[in-house]
Amino acid sequence: MINSSETFKTYSKYYNIYIGTKTKDLEFYKSLTEKNRKIVEIGCGTGRILKFFLKNDYHITGIDISHEMLELCKIDLVNFISSGKLLLFNHDFSVSSFNELFDTALITFFTFNYVKNPVSFLKNVYDSLNNKAIIIIDLYYPHVFLNKEIEDKWLIKELKDNQRIITLKEKRRMENNIEHRIQIFSEDNVEETVRSERIYYSPHEIKKYLSNAGFINIRYSLTHNKDNFVDNIEEIDIKVGNYVVTAEKPGCVQVELKE
Ligand SMILES: C[S@@+](CC[C@H](N)C(=O)[O-])C[C@H]1O[C@@H](n2cnc3c(N)ncnc32)[C@H](O)[C@@H]1O
Repeated sequence: MINSSETFKTYSKYYNIYIGTKTKDLEFYKSLTEKNRKIVEIGCGTGRILKFFLKNDYHITGIDISHEMLELCKIDLVNFISSGKLLLFNHDFSVSSFNELFDTALITFFTFNYVKNPVSFLKNVYDSLNNKAIIIIDLYYPHVFLNKEIEDKWLIKELKDNQRIITLKEKRRMENNIEHRIQIFSEDNVEETVRSERIYYSPHEIKKYLSNAGFINIRYSLTHNKDNFVDNIEEIDIKVGNYVVTAEKPGCVQVELKE
């Protein structure tokens, strides 16, 4: 399998122009957490979500396995680092828990679908949370499941910002529950290829992984709207390219002492 830090080594050069302007999930994450909670974004990448929280006067920690993504994040958000509002760390939760505890863990925009060993990852996240902490995960629903016709076909897009024009050729195919994607970015006659593998986790599977890790109150939303959470969804209910799951770490159990 392709290691996701390999994927993001090259992808980091194009990530901001490809995804950096995406905003439609931002208010949703803010609506799910309060300023007095200690918030971590796991898989913060170049800081798209961190920046939004920081601009809204939150303090936040960003953690990622990719040095290249973190480096771009540091450059962009250096003022927030200097003011102590942002802490950034390179850490892999698949390997170990973190040495601090958080109240809210955000795992946004399909970071979890790059995780190859969900059992150890979730156990380590669980161990890095305070009692009653919440975890919020935005999960990928493969494009090919929504439209079989795009499977293995090259799609071409132009990516533009004030300084750069890039042509992106991409195609994807599913092999069981794994999406294999090839992206070819061409800029100034230089071509670079990014290969990624994203695992599709169904609503039932994610519930199993979360509850085996110890999480409770597992709830789903098919939209980025905090008022639309329900106790269960089926795969057939998913009509767009994602769904969201939230869960809680249990609080202290009160034991009644008998005389
Ligand atoms: C699709 S990007 C999302 C970046 C950012 N959250 C956003 O919404 O723009 C996924 C990020 O997750 C990181 N990642 C993948 N596996 C990870 C892991 N096991 N632990 C921490 N970060 C991981 C990648 O390096 C990448 O920066």
